[in-house]
Amino acid sequence: MYISVVGADRVPVVSGVDRAMFGYFDSKLAGERVVAESGLPWTTLRATQFYDLILLVVRQTAKLPVIPAPAGVRFQPVDAGEVAARLVELALGSPAGLVPEMGGPKVYDMAELLRSYLRASRRRRTIVPIRLPGKAFRAVRAGANLARDQAVGHRTWEDFLAERVGRGIEREPKANDPEGPRQTL
Ligand SMILES: NC(=O)c1ccc[n+]([C@@H]2O[C@H](COP(=O)([O-])OP(=O)(O)OC[C@H]3O[C@@H](n4cnc5c(N)ncnc54)[C@H](OP(=O)(O)O)[C@@H]3O)[C@@H](O)[C@H]2O)c1
Repeated sequence: MYISVVGADRVPVVSGVDRAMFGYFDSKLAGERVVAESGLPWTTLRATQFYDLILLVVRQTAKLPVIPAPAGVRFQPVDAGEVAARLVELALGSPAGLVPEMGGPKVYDMAELLRSYLRASRRRRTIVPIRLPGKAFRAVRAGANLARDQAVGHRTWEDFLAERVGRGIEREPKANDPEGPRQTL
């Protein structure tokens, strides 16, 4: 049973810029191959970004007075609990190989995610769109990280945000909080 990321096979990691921003996708694809070539029965689920990761990113970037947002980049984040439930379901079934991807109910651009966080946490910041170079960013701008046909998640980003950041009272992560920075998008 392996959990991978939507776009692992669609985001080309060729240059140094690609690797710096999307090396994670490449490493998940390598992980998928190890599982598929292990000779053991396997199941792999690719999921989009978890809300927790999006929150981590917007929370960190909102510390800047002016926030750079990659232009044209969209996300279809999903609730980690729903992904976990699906993994349990798959683990209890027979090995199924690469199963259909799992994405959240809605697609947002980066600026929308930032704005909703700023609203919920009652902050004011200027968001500046920046166009980032590289093949990986081009693929992501074209939607390689989205699972539009598999928008099977139910819990919305708005619900998640209201629960975690609602009413402008934000719970700041502690030093050993699992939300500590670990990976790029
Ligand atoms: N976050 C996303 O948006 C996203 C999207 C799609 C797929 N995924 C995949 O989903 C998985 C979980 O993501 P995440 O963001 O929740 O990661 P995470 O915050 O880094 O959590 C990973 C968890 O796995 C545990 N772990 C790592 N290696 C282990 C091992 N060898 N044996 C037992 N436990 C181990 C870690 O324990 P410790 O804390 O003790 O190290 C940690 O609790 C990853 O494989 C990630 O690539 C994540």
